[in-house]
Amino acid sequence: MAQLSASNSDVPDMGRRQFMNLLAFGTISGVALGALYPIVRYFIPPSSGGTGGGLTAKDKLGNDLVASSFLGAHGAGDRVLAQGLKGDPTYVIVTEDAEIASYGLNAVCTHLGCVVPWNANENKFICPCHGSQYNAAGKVVRGPAPLSLALVNTTVSEEGKVVFSPWTDTDFRTGESPWWS
Ligand code: FES
Repeated sequence: MAQLSASNSDVPDMGRRQFMNLLAFGTISGVALGALYPIVRYFIPPSSGGTGGGLTAKDKLGNDLVASSFLGAHGAGDRVLAQGLKGDPTYVIVTEDAEIASYGLNAVCTHLGCVVPWNANENKFICPCHGSQYNAAGKVVRGPAPLSLALVNTTVSEEGKVVFSPWTDTDFRTGESPWWS
């Protein structure tokens, strides 16, 4: 009987001990998680600076393209290569009003994929590989390229950086659905 009452009196003790252990574990875990949070956040890359699948354009050195310094270095009508979506070379366009155009052009030729340089004298993009030509808005005007250069949306973020995002609207040059999306 004595043993029974001793073991009976142990039951609530065990319960309390487990409860206290749980409480301590929970407290320690909470403190540990709280301490880890800033460390974990540090290793999570920040958003790319754009919204809705946007990506900050980069210059040839891999630095973010800042709109004010970009416009300070380039004039109306310029078409300047930057690193775009999926790393594709993409033209940032300066409008006649010396602003960044709301569209950019993927510089990859729709024939066999050469990067198409801008020819300011001809006011066209002329592919060095097989002579395809695109007008100033990237619309194909001479083959063998079968399609116009792909469009991307171009905006300036709140931080003043140039941001590319996928163009899913109608192609304003052809009135057709975009072939690239
Ligand atoms: S790759 Fe541009 S014309 Fe052939």
